[in-house]
Amino acid sequence: MSRRAVTVRSTQVAIIGAGPAGLLLSSLLAREGIDSVVVERESREHVQGRIRAGLLEWTTVELLREAGVGGRALREGLIHEGFDVAFAGGHHRLDLKALTGKTMLVYGQNELQKDLAEARSEPGAVLWEARDVTLHDWDQETPRVSYTHAGSRHELRCDFLAGCDGYHGASRAGLPRAGLTLYERVYPFGWLGLLADVPPLHEELVYANHERGFALCSMRSRGRSRYYVQCPLEDKVEEWPDARFWEELRLRLPERYSARLVTGPALEKSIVPLRSLVTEPMRFGRLFLVGDAAHIVPPTGAKGLNLAAADVRVLSRGLIEFYRNRSATLLEEYSARALSRVWKATRFSWWFTLLMHRFAGDPFARRLQSAELEYLANSEAAARSLAENYVGLSFD
Ligand code: FAD
Ligand code: PHB
Repeated sequence: MSRRAVTVRSTQVAIIGAGPAGLLLSSLLAREGIDSVVVERESREHVQGRIRAGLLEWTTVELLREAGVGGRALREGLIHEGFDVAFAGGHHRLDLKALTGKTMLVYGQNELQKDLAEARSEPGAVLWEARDVTLHDWDQETPRVSYTHAGSRHELRCDFLAGCDGYHGASRAGLPRAGLTLYERVYPFGWLGLLADVPPLHEELVYANHERGFALCSMRSRGRSRYYVQCPLEDKVEEWPDARFWEELRLRLPERYSARLVTGPALEKSIVPLRSLVTEPMRFGRLFLVGDAAHIVPPTGAKGLNLAAADVRVLSRGLIEFYRNRSATLLEEYSARALSRVWKATRFSWWFTLLMHRFAGDPFARRLQSAELEYLANSEAAARSLAENYVGLSFD
């Protein structure tokens, strides 16, 4: 049997996954002269075409600027100072700016992916379409990643591994089950999302609690809308022709919004299940789990991408401190620091999901929702608590 030749290469930080977490980490390290290589399973076009998050916290925007990639987001993104919660046929506006002094930025994750990939476009910085990615020796001094790229087998030696490969990635999957604890909650419904080149029905986001189920009116620009409706987990996209989606959305909105709904052909339509997952710890020897590889939140609170950026912030500070001063203190604190924020965002996302969705066959829960929504509309303290979590808690 002939042994296939393996090309060996070295870097300081091997990053698995070129999602927002992996590429942002790579940019932040590059600015400090720290060498990294990003190993990504999919093609650049595929990654840039994925329609996902759309709402950035201001701390995320600041981190993008620090990495030198925030320019287009700030020029083309839409600043939002509040959002509406619709329920019982009426609506209540949460004035984020007045309640917290902070705002959010509407900027599509796919646009962000383009900016991040552009910033790391020098040859060899990101290896797109790397197959059979396997992590080795994360508990040793010199960990390694092996993969197949352009038909041949490679090995990347490094000081540290950053597992930024999302929920279905290889990093968490390769860890011994005995060493990690997974906390999980699966919600009994999904979100059906539709993207269309039609003007948004309102200049701010609208989150609607309705007898028929939750609905969200979001956007990507002044000419492109992103709408969601809660749907049964078993539903298939094929069962939702555009006309059915538009009709269902209309039924779940108060008249003041539905009257302004402009419909059009879907550019994209997909169903995502809702779940919460937290992995503890987030560090295993020289492997750090980052973003969706370590935790998932339901999209209700718009926290997923922002949490991934928050992990990157903590890890990049730790790595920079290590290479500058040979101090591993911040790296040792990575898991505890990241998890403290992760659990707060997990709590908020769970709470907001419970408040806004329809849980079949639970009239007691329905009454509690109504009471809490009325409380939210009438108590500044309640509104401020929601707003504070929505715009993102400050770092300690
Ligand atoms: P990912 O974006 O999942 O990136 C992981 C990368 O690793 C991918 O490119 C993947 O191809 C690659 N990969 C996977 N396996 C391997 C492997 N074995 N080898 C090499 N590479 C691999 N978040 C918000 O903050 N705000 C929102 O408004 C919001 N809305 C959302 C709406 C929807 C419908 C969905 C689905 C998500 C939403 N999110 C939102 C969540 C957000 O999209 C994710 O949290 C974010 O993408 C996480 O970034 P990441 O880099 O950690 O992981
Ligand atoms: C989106 O625009 O995709 C979006 C916005 C806010 C959310 C979730 C998704 O809470």
